[in-house]
Amino acid sequence: MYRLIYTSTAKAHITKANVEDILLNSRVKNHSVLITGILLFGGGHFLQYLEGGEDTVTRTFDRIAADDRHYEVTILTKGAIEFREFSRWDMANKIVPSDILDDTIKAIVRDDFRNVAATLSAIAEVG
Ligand SMILES: Cc1cc2nc3c(=O)[nH]c(=O)nc-3n(C[C@H](O)[C@H](O)[C@H](O)COP(=O)(O)O)c2cc1C
Repeated sequence: MYRLIYTSTAKAHITKANVEDILLNSRVKNHSVLITGILLFGGGHFLQYLEGGEDTVTRTFDRIAADDRHYEVTILTKGAIEFREFSRWDMANKIVPSDILDDTIKAIVRDDFRNVAATLSAIAEVG
């Protein structure tokens, strides 16, 4: 099992409806390739946690990174994990205030990603 977490900046015109579109499509695709995870959006930034097989996650991330609905796509961490953390979620989601997203990113980096799944689950209330 493999995970990749990145942040990005949304194109200025992105709306809540656009995020919902991204999610609908993502969930169908992720379901078919056994990717799970969570997507937070706040203050014009995305934070996404993807988990699944290494090749699948890498291929999906490459597609996401090339998507022109966002830019400044920056990997925070990637690597092997022991087990799936978001097994019930083709892609969980929460739209949060920008300061919450900023604080969350700082907290998970400071914690060296040890509690990242629990932190993100709590924010999205998907525990
Ligand atoms: C912030 C963001 C998150 C995305 N997350 C996913 C995802 O989890 N899974 C996925 O298949 N596509 C995701 N996409 C969409 C992909 O970038 C791409 O549009 C989609 O996979 C369709 O690709 P295709 O047109 O080449 O089939 C995301 C896009 C953005 C902007």
